[in-house]
Amino acid sequence: MSLPEQLLDLAVATAREAGRMLVDKRPAGGPDVVQTKTSPTDVVTQMDRAAEKLIIERILAARPGDAFLGEEGGSREGGSGVRWVIDPIDGTVNYLYDLPDWAVSIAAEVDGVAVAGAVDMPRRGETYTAVRGGGALLHTGSAARELRVNAGVPLERALVATGFGYGSARRARQAEVLTRVLPAVRDIRRGGSCCVDLCSLAAGRVDAYYERGVQAWDVAAGALIVQEAGGRVEGLRGAPVSPEFAVAGGPGTFEALHDLLAPLDPARD
Ligand code: IPD
Ligand code: CA
Ligand code: CA
Ligand code: CA
Repeated sequence: MSLPEQLLDLAVATAREAGRMLVDKRPAGGPDVVQTKTSPTDVVTQMDRAAEKLIIERILAARPGDAFLGEEGGSREGGSGVRWVIDPIDGTVNYLYDLPDWAVSIAAEVDGVAVAGAVDMPRRGETYTAVRGGGALLHTGSAARELRVNAGVPLERALVATGFGYGSARRARQAEVLTRVLPAVRDIRRGGSCCVDLCSLAAGRVDAYYERGVQAWDVAAGALIVQEAGGRVEGLRGAPVSPEFAVAGGPGTFEALHDLLAPLDPARD
């Protein structure tokens, strides 16, 4: 088994264990908000922290020399050349409200390049996986199917997912950009989890995605899954994805959405 395949196996097993824990141990009255970050919407619960702790413990037990980038503070250096990029709950607000679309996202990088990614959605019963150069799969129970983005969807027929990356100062600008995008597309979906949006794109359940304010842990696994399903995930004008901006879509649709967004200067405050 190649190193990326070994890393994927560990990512899948760990994401599923964390996902099960998050379902089984979710407090009956909902989790507590133990911290807010950039705005009152940007919440952290005790379950985000518990899931990140579990994920890092499991991976370290198997691979003690690896590095980590974790949303909830679990980052650490390592000497093996492998770094794990972890979002223990992507869609914390959905998890808080008991809406089903949240996920555990784990990506493995070798020498700075993402080579394996797993996104587990326990409330949907779905796990999405990709290995660089090996395609992307959706696993449902014991079945698996290969993922392919929709290609060449004209904007007026494109269902476009978006997110409103957190930070109160950005909200008015996000709304302005949306007023220009909404009339140009079939419709908009704001699902509440960046990696769920990216997996939906890979599965052909939406045609494109854009967002300002995403972080490495939001996109690391999902972007690999989209790329391996034949799509593009980039910043504006060929830049890599950054907290500035992310735009994603299948061939043809990516370019059309990019060209609509770029002149709007969506990363400006
Ligand atoms: C958030 C979700 C949301 C997106 C935000 C992210 P979190 O992640 O992915 O959809 O709009 O930009 O921060 O905080 O739930 O892990
Ligand atoms: Ca968060
Ligand atoms: Ca996230
Ligand atoms: Ca998170």
